[in-house]
Amino acid sequence: MPAVVVRPATDADLDAVAALYAREVAEGHATFDVEPPPRSVWETKLASTHPGDHFLVAAAGPAPDDDVLGFAYSGPFRDRGAYHHTREVTVYLDAGATGRGVGRLLYDDLLARMTAAGMRTALAVVALPNDASEGLHRACGFERQGVLREVGRKHGRWIDIAWWQKMLG
Ligand SMILES: CC(C)(COP(=O)(O)OP(=O)(O)OC[C@H]1O[C@@H](n2cnc3c(N)ncnc32)[C@H](O)[C@@H]1OP(=O)(O)O)[C@@H](O)C(=O)NCCC(=O)NCCS
Repeated sequence: MPAVVVRPATDADLDAVAALYAREVAEGHATFDVEPPPRSVWETKLASTHPGDHFLVAAAGPAPDDDVLGFAYSGPFRDRGAYHHTREVTVYLDAGATGRGVGRLLYDDLLARMTAAGMRTALAVVALPNDASEGLHRACGFERQGVLREVGRKHGRWIDIAWWQKMLG
């Protein structure tokens, strides 16, 4: 695979991001969305001015029209003020880009930006089973904090989630 570039997302990336996510909505269980969100949801994430919120893409090259291989972003865990220094992180790759270190590249960059912005902790929810995601979170220094049983139902089955947490800084 050619060199992968990780860079902040721009509006020009959002259609590719949305398409990539829509496939996981339709075919996978990593997201509990059952309908693809409207473009405005991605625009809102991109526009966040919270210092701990970052939206990155991994692309096949530096140009704006290079293929988007995946994305990762940080956002609010909950909106209440005392959660200011806690962010929830998410990562999705195109199926053809997995298992080659691209998730790690995205997370290393994202977590470094969150740490530099003074965030205290990163949380992630992993719908089970997902060996690749749990492997990525473990490799990046997250700890598995617990499992909530059967909180999701998708594709005709109940789905557990695991909470993963990394202290930053
Ligand atoms: C989960 C996902 C982001 C991981 O990204 P990736 O690029 O495939 O993972 P990487 O190649 O960067 O591997 C990162 C670490 O996880 C480990 N890992 C990757 N795939 C694994 C697997 N199937 N089983 C166990 N560990 C695995 C790697 O060994 C690596 O650890 P290391 O750095 O110590 O060697 C990617 O597979 C994906 O997008 N999957 C579909 C969507 C999804 O599940 N998103 C997560 C939602 S919580």
